[in-house]
Amino acid sequence: MQVLAITYNPNLFPDELYHRALLLLDPESSARIKRFYRREDACRTLIGRFLPRMLLYDRGLPLANMKFGATEAGKPYFASPSAASGLNPPIAFNVSHDNGLIVMVSSANTYNPPAFTIGVDIMKVRIPGRESLASFVETMGEQLTALERQLISSAPNEGEGLARFFWVWTVKEAYTKALGLGLGFDFRRLEFDPVLNLFRVDGAAPKGWQLTKFNVFQATDVYQGVVAEFVGRDVTLVIPESSPHEWLTILDATSYIQNAVQQLES
Ligand SMILES: CC(C)(COP(=O)(O)OP(=O)(O)OC[C@H]1O[C@@H](n2cnc3c(N)ncnc32)[C@H](O)[C@@H]1OP(=O)(O)O)[C@@H](O)C(=O)NCCC(=O)NCCS
Repeated sequence: MQVLAITYNPNLFPDELYHRALLLLDPESSARIKRFYRREDACRTLIGRFLPRMLLYDRGLPLANMKFGATEAGKPYFASPSAASGLNPPIAFNVSHDNGLIVMVSSANTYNPPAFTIGVDIMKVRIPGRESLASFVETMGEQLTALERQLISSAPNEGEGLARFFWVWTVKEAYTKALGLGLGFDFRRLEFDPVLNLFRVDGAAPKGWQLTKFNVFQATDVYQGVVAEFVGRDVTLVIPESSPHEWLTILDATSYIQNAVQQLES
């Protein structure tokens, strides 16, 4: 498994680069990106679309030969080349973005092609607006189990409470994204204990799943991320954020896209 994280600062991303990059994307991606009202939102999706393309490009594939598909719920995958058409080893990927960070997980996963059972979610650790932790958790409360609410509210301080909340949230998002289901899934069926790092689906540990927690620090901001992947073993593994992140690469958006555009244009 590899995770590529792109740090994005809207003030340092040239307009001219955005327009040049947009020209390289397929009509569907380009139309979706142009629909965003805020340039920041458009840029995050644009960068997110470049990540899997560069993954294939680095395997020697020209842009013109890449085709993307999406599941009914919108999970993107490589339609061509695909595992079925000889992409060996197969590449499973998933993208997530929030604020100043865009991440892509990729893996030679073989379970459930074509979209594969892998998902990533990243979130900046913060309480939106001027809410208190208690009222923020209250707003999200319906999606949490009683144990999750209790572990968040009994945290020794607000910072730890917030971190617990975001682990719970990103685990649930990453898991549902791995399944490719998105918003249609009832989050109360999932339970993550952020103190003991235990995960349950409908009350039982789901065998064969691996959850990898990680942090990305960008200036004064902290991001929490989770990769959920079905790896087919007989256990449920939660890898804590304190484990080494040798699979994580962090790059800057402007130089990453500049480089990508230069390569794809040539
Ligand atoms: C995508 C979704 C699963 C998670 O959204 P999120 O946590 O806000 O966003 P993230 O940044 O983590 O992930 C977004 C990326 O996940 C990928 N994605 C989209 N649908 C996905 C799905 N069903 N499963 C897994 N990944 C998905 C895409 O790469 C997307 O990036 P893009 O929109 O910039 O192209 C959620 O929006 C969803 O359920 N969508 C499907 C239903 C839908 O589109 N509803 C819209 C009206 S409410």
